[in-house]
Amino acid sequence: MKAVVLVGGFGTRLRPLTLTTPKQMLPVIDRPMLEHVIGALGRHGVDEVVLSLGYKEDVFRKAYPDARCAGVALDYAVEPEPLDTAGAVRFAAEAAGIDETFIVVNGDVFTDLDVGQVWRRHHEVGAEGTIALTPVDDPSRYGVVPTDARGKVLGFVEKPPRDEAPTNWINAGTYVLEPSVLGRIDAGRRVSIERETFPSIVEDGGLWAVQSDAYWVDAGTPDTYLQVQLDLLDGVRGPAVDGIATDAEIDPGASVEHSVVMAGAFVAAGARVRDAVISSGARVLAGATVERSIVGPGAVIGERAEVLDMSMVGEDAEVEAGRSLHGARLPEND
Ligand code: GDD
Ligand code: MG
Repeated sequence: MKAVVLVGGFGTRLRPLTLTTPKQMLPVIDRPMLEHVIGALGRHGVDEVVLSLGYKEDVFRKAYPDARCAGVALDYAVEPEPLDTAGAVRFAAEAAGIDETFIVVNGDVFTDLDVGQVWRRHHEVGAEGTIALTPVDDPSRYGVVPTDARGKVLGFVEKPPRDEAPTNWINAGTYVLEPSVLGRIDAGRRVSIERETFPSIVEDGGLWAVQSDAYWVDAGTPDTYLQVQLDLLDGVRGPAVDGIATDAEIDPGASVEHSVVMAGAFVAAGARVRDAVISSGARVLAGATVERSIVGPGAVIGERAEVLDMSMVGEDAEVEAGRSLHGARLPEND
């Protein structure tokens, strides 16, 4: 099975971290997000991935110079400009010469869902496209997908107001598509698969869905980027992993609880780190507190500073001694 993995977005919700690193190359515990995503695809039978790239494509190429990632062969399709989700699929499929049934995956989704099952159902019903669905509490930030009892899709509404969502089953960002879908996508302009392509297939009765309640999180927001990491520590997806890198330096007088501390990071005496991510090479100085927040690579949290309530400190940024950040971004977004 061949999969196009979409990784060309700007990752705006994860700024400032994504100003220097594209979203799917942000670390999750010990590896880039992308390796977790492609690793899961590989375990379910995908043997070739076409990376659909644009924003900061060089970071991906540098990380995988031998064109393999998590044991899966990689091909690169670099858009001259962002073509949005459907435009990107068409561009990548053409670049890779795809002319058979293929898979498309949003590159920021952490899931245990079995894409092989979606593939089988797709062929069973003779669909033009089949999408995986997952249940969520608040569907308003996703593509909402009502179906009939057999799984035929009745509509596709991207990000509706919360009280107008017809169901809690949403687009899980994993699709099986026939090459005929490519003919529905105009070349050379921005086309959204969610707002244009899927609604057009629904009209022709060719879009089907498979519901799954397997583990599923879109890691594209500060909260969920933190959540996928804490879930791995908590053993929510299989055996619990240790979030402290072997070469992280944690002073015996520091308190580090339920957190990820990456390679080469340092936590000084009297510092407190809880429910947080300290990225590689970052330093949390004496008496500082980091709670429910993300400290980017190489950042410095000054003595007695507080970084709290889903704050994000960008790569190499410095929080001055004694300063308090609550739900803040540093540097601030423009
Ligand atoms: N190549 C390329 N070009 N990739 C893109 C572009 C583009 O122009 N725009 C976005 N992407 C990539 C992003 O990098 C990401 O991996 C994926 O497409 C989806 O974009 P997001 O920005 O993460 O979308 P979302 O999370 O708001 O919503 C999407 O995902 C939800 C599930 O996770 C939609 O598909 C929703 O319908 C869905 O429910
Ligand atoms: Mg997303």
